[in-house]
Amino acid sequence: MGEAPGAATFRTPAEAYDRHIGRYGGALARALIAAAGIRPGDRALDVGCGPGALTRELAARLGPEHVAAVDPSPPFAAACAERLPGVRVEVAAAEALPFEDGTFDAALAQLVVNFMTDPPAGVRELRRVTRADGTVAAAVWDYAGEMTILRRFWDAAVALDPAAAEQDEGRSMPYCEPASLGALWSEAGLHDVTVEAVEVSAGYDSFADLWQPLELGVAPSGAYAAGLPDDRRAALKAAFRARLGVDDGPFRLGARAWVAVGRV
Ligand SMILES: C[S@@+](CC[C@H](N)C(=O)[O-])C[C@H]1O[C@@H](n2cnc3c(N)ncnc32)[C@H](O)[C@@H]1O
Repeated sequence: MGEAPGAATFRTPAEAYDRHIGRYGGALARALIAAAGIRPGDRALDVGCGPGALTRELAARLGPEHVAAVDPSPPFAAACAERLPGVRVEVAAAEALPFEDGTFDAALAQLVVNFMTDPPAGVRELRRVTRADGTVAAAVWDYAGEMTILRRFWDAAVALDPAAAEQDEGRSMPYCEPASLGALWSEAGLHDVTVEAVEVSAGYDSFADLWQPLELGVAPSGAYAAGLPDDRRAALKAAFRARLGVDDGPFRLGARAWVAVGRV
């Protein structure tokens, strides 16, 4: 089976990701950890760790020796390992986790399910490596609704070029609302499944601060912007800024995620 559309857009330097979606990662990780009920003494796995936003929060609570992390992107896995000494970090995908059955008290995936090559197989693997009565949890963006930066970006892109609708993550991501996400969890054999909304936000110094990492091609939005000819990219930049209604001063943007939690 081929890689999911968009997965290859995470083979960029970690710093580009940090300055784009990574800005939301720490706050979202704290909300995911709270929803999953992670407790001191737990052993936890971060699947699709990226440069390590969730890994960092897990290591701070549990100690790095109680945390493992995997990501199929070599530059992201390397950044995670360098930033979080003591955490076991491997280059691996959710669909084939390099761990024995029942190794962890909890397996978590932050903003990853929609990029998995085979999400049902990936979630079954998270379940397999988690002990009986342990927790499997994930967060996904509300791409079609209240994830402000991405929603405004794709609205601007589609207004300029209707063909961009195919790449609009609010349409292309199969698990970005509670019903499909909850069904994915239940169909993986997880019990006591809940899906709740979580609201986070991130700060920007200016619109230029927001736009610059998109030109580096990170994430599906950055890959779309970076792939445009100069004149169309300039038009998108202006239309996006107008939709955000922001200027050269600092601002914050809100972002809603859906968090699914289930028991093994
Ligand atoms: C939006 S980033 C999220 C990174 C990190 N969890 C965070 O919250 O900042 C999506 C991540 O999923 C990873 N990914 C892509 N395909 C994957 C797969 N099949 N299994 C696990 N992770 C995958 C990407 O390499 C990327 O690091």
